[in-house]
Amino acid sequence: MNFEKMKLDPRMPKHIGFIIDGNGRWAKRRGLPRSAGHQVGSENVKKHIEYCQQLGIPNVSFYCFSSENWKRSEKEVKFLMEKFDEMLDEYKKDYLDKNVRIIISGDMTDERLPLSVRQKAEELMLLTKDKTELVLNMCINYGGRDELLMAFKKIAEENGEYTEENVEKHLYTKDMLPLDFVIRTSGEKRSSNFMPWQSTYSEWLFPKKTWPAFSKCDLVKALKIYMKRNRRFGGVK
Ligand code: IPE
Ligand code: IPE
Ligand code: MG
Repeated sequence: MNFEKMKLDPRMPKHIGFIIDGNGRWAKRRGLPRSAGHQVGSENVKKHIEYCQQLGIPNVSFYCFSSENWKRSEKEVKFLMEKFDEMLDEYKKDYLDKNVRIIISGDMTDERLPLSVRQKAEELMLLTKDKTELVLNMCINYGGRDELLMAFKKIAEENGEYTEENVEKHLYTKDMLPLDFVIRTSGEKRSSNFMPWQSTYSEWLFPKKTWPAFSKCDLVKALKIYMKRNRRFGGVK
């Protein structure tokens, strides 16, 4: 797999989003509890962060927990919250000495989230705010409609203008580029409330593989497909 050659290709996406779906199905097929799928899935997130870094992709987003995922069993939600708590500790340890900025998109004022998650998320964002090589956006308790409503409410409070530029300034992703490419694993062909504003001109891919099984090779294949797409943005090309 020639990462070096790919890295130099001007058609490479600058912002890639992963809707990391299929953890539960991955586990079920193996006769394992859903939590095992989330465990392997979270390890796979770390691997793909590294691949994206190696590929020189400057912005990467992962959809980890939606504002709708509270509908799941108490046991599953608890497991996921513990995973996020662990993940935040781990990312602090691993990325603080690297040039990686971490953004946690999602409502961190929601009291359903453990206090430790909310505090660690805020701390990590603050600690990494001046880093520049990679912006890593982890969407936790995130909903696209929520994000837009939050932006509109802030603009109203400020008596601000409803321009595209001003809306963008009030989004979690204000310092990020628009999404070029969204990959949703496990075959479901929907966005499930993932970054609607940022993905209006994204290319989408829906590989059948579940997230825990989505490999480096699958990422390379996906990027090759993306680079062959003809992006017109409403023009003629
Ligand atoms: C995605 O995998 C992870 C989260 C939503 C937290 P799922 O848990 O949705 O896996 P499936 O869709 O049930 O297989
Ligand atoms: C989308 O997956 C959210 C995440 C990957 C975090 P879901 O599994 O929650 O989506 P639906 O319910 O199939 O639309
Ligand atoms: Mg799912």
